[in-house]
Amino acid sequence: MASETFSGMAASSPMTAPVRTSAVRRAQAQAQAGDVLPSDHPLTSGVTAESPLLVEYRGGRDAAGDPARPGRRPVWFMRQAGRSLPEYRALREGTSMLDACLDPEMAAEITLQPVRRHDVDAAIFFSDIVIPLRLAGIDVEIVPNVGPVLAHPVRTRADVEALPQLDDDAFAPITEAVARTVEQLGSTPLIGFAGAPFTLAAYMVEGRPSRDHLGPRTMMHADPETWDALASWAADVSGRFMRAQLMAGASAAQLFDSWAGSLGRDDYAAHVQKHSAAAFSHVAGLGAPLIHFGTGTGEILDLMLQAGAKALAQGVPGDDEGVSGGSPSPVVGIDYRVNLAEATRRLGEQTPLQGNIDPALLTADWDVLEAHVRDVVAAGAGAAGHVLNLGHGVPPSTDPEVLTRVVSLIHSISPAEIEPTRA
Ligand code: CP3
Repeated sequence: MASETFSGMAASSPMTAPVRTSAVRRAQAQAQAGDVLPSDHPLTSGVTAESPLLVEYRGGRDAAGDPARPGRRPVWFMRQAGRSLPEYRALREGTSMLDACLDPEMAAEITLQPVRRHDVDAAIFFSDIVIPLRLAGIDVEIVPNVGPVLAHPVRTRADVEALPQLDDDAFAPITEAVARTVEQLGSTPLIGFAGAPFTLAAYMVEGRPSRDHLGPRTMMHADPETWDALASWAADVSGRFMRAQLMAGASAAQLFDSWAGSLGRDDYAAHVQKHSAAAFSHVAGLGAPLIHFGTGTGEILDLMLQAGAKALAQGVPGDDEGVSGGSPSPVVGIDYRVNLAEATRRLGEQTPLQGNIDPALLTADWDVLEAHVRDVVAAGAGAAGHVLNLGHGVPPSTDPEVLTRVVSLIHSISPAEIEPTRA
């Protein structure tokens, strides 16, 4: 994968060489070091390996690869750790978002809060997609009710060349927070995550949140070499961020391409897919399930599946594209716009899915929400595996008691009750 990832740059300019050389050197060092999780890791030691979440992520297979059906239907929520919880707001009082992420004790406690309260089947690590930028020394803040803001947007070739190198030691606060978290989680798996190169680079180019992401979309056409160098840098730091979380104890990792829905299919295929595959390639050899999620991405779901599949197929002879069935399938996270039965039609029955309760219905009457949750369960029943989630993050105004009730509803639905929907 690494050679393909950087092929566009190799043909471009010597100015992009430093990024390429260091990434290749690091990949070689990893291969030499043996690409395995530590023996006391919860996945290796078996503590989380047969959890309902991981069985569904593996497409209804146990750790040995034999068919298995978990005793309970797994669910977690994107943004379950955060503003919808009063205990989160109380703990965060007086601490900035990114400082909270880099305080291991606080990050671990915030990660655990929704698990205790809702009885969800996974914890998602409390952090942010821009943490690797902060750790590399880039001046970035999360401005409340705005989102990530960079003091110096990255728009020119010179800006990209001046990007700092990220030292692996910088991940120490992350590693410590993950270790503290998994110690307390027991058999509930922790999910690590990172921002996909497009979404991360979109913040870097715009310098702040934007609706249409015109800056990065212009750059990939007007100056493709600079775009490739920037996206390669983003893939490298995000891939290593996921890897740090997995090595420290996370049992799965999710790549968030929240803004990939602003891209046309051709642009995703030509300018983005290889970079997302490169981010995944940092963790593809570890044997942990990988999830690829975006919003508004109905037109490119198959390309997103391929990005993960290509990375996972590395090293499986004859399965370079991940389509021969020789390697595990990535999980695809589906937003609320695409019915899960339709997602299975587009991605194939072998693809495990995650999703996709519409966050808008969390404030509807319970009868309406319950009917919707049952529809989502039925629509996902035709996929190899299905982990319930929202079709995007928990809105801050959500009543946490509704989330707890949704979790217990999902846990109460028996397989016999479900008539799978077909697209
Ligand atoms: O519970 C969880 O999901 C775990 C933690 C998590 C956060 N951010 C915490 C957070 C995760 C997985 C993320 C990912 C993230 N960060 C994404 C991808 C997911 C998505 O929502 O599409 C993106 C695009 C970001 C960048 C970012 N960080 C945005 C757009 C915002 C919201 C700005 C705002 O205030 O409305 C943030 C801040 C942020 N990240 C908060 C949390 C809990 C809110 C901070 C606060 O409490 O003030």
